[in-house]
Amino acid sequence: MIGIFDSGYGGLSVQKAVMKTLPDVPIVYFADHKFCPYGRKSKEELIERAFFIADALIHMGAQLIIVACNTATAAAIDALREKYDIPFVGMEPAIKPAAMASSTKKIGVLATEGTFSGRLFNQTKEKFAQDIEVVIQEGVGLVELVEKGLMGTYKAHQVLFPIVDKMKAHQIDQLVLGCTHYPFLKEDLQKMLGKQVQLIDPAPAVAQQAKRLYQNVDDKVTVKKYYRFITSGDNVKEFRRNVLSLITVDEENTLFMYE
Ligand code: SIN
Repeated sequence: MIGIFDSGYGGLSVQKAVMKTLPDVPIVYFADHKFCPYGRKSKEELIERAFFIADALIHMGAQLIIVACNTATAAAIDALREKYDIPFVGMEPAIKPAAMASSTKKIGVLATEGTFSGRLFNQTKEKFAQDIEVVIQEGVGLVELVEKGLMGTYKAHQVLFPIVDKMKAHQIDQLVLGCTHYPFLKEDLQKMLGKQVQLIDPAPAVAQQAKRLYQNVDDKVTVKKYYRFITSGDNVKEFRRNVLSLITVDEENTLFMYE
């Protein structure tokens, strides 16, 4: 079984890719709504949450965990790998593919403060974007838009406007979606930025990496495929409704729970 976690619904963009790549594998998804958003939380707090969630997922049988949140990856992936024996897959800041695809040599990266201040982002930027202008922008308010299901609305347009304006002014031709919530705003962003800007979602690459590592897991529990969605929030009905509006699953083998 694969465990996936995020601060809220964003990691479902990763789960979608994993369900395509590993269609027969059971998945338990943990949305840490009680602590959402993660974007400006301290490293210590994020490590504490990551340990709590990893314990819960491993207790439920997870043999590989995907940290489907760029901020939590930046803060906690090293600590998780040190503490537990199972493999962890984190979100990669997709600067390399963006830099390679750019003809203007100007790329944008949209992420949280926690991601931008992390070692992973800065190392990746140093390594793959030396001759590239990297325009960074904190996605203020974007996680909240997705959590409230406000994609495609006037409100979303208002929140995205200054971000898009900045990216247009810098004439970027690639935009890295550096938070797993942002792919749910892809349509809004694409409409506002125009077709000349390509949006880069790292989820398919992360799913491929999960597949590679999962193949090496010994003693895979062979059970009928199932999906569990867990929230640390307090409204499981709303949680169920929102999950089902973002991802298509066979409801017969799916459960929604509190932790
Ligand atoms: C959040 O701020 O909760 C989302 C963080 C992320 O995916 O980087």
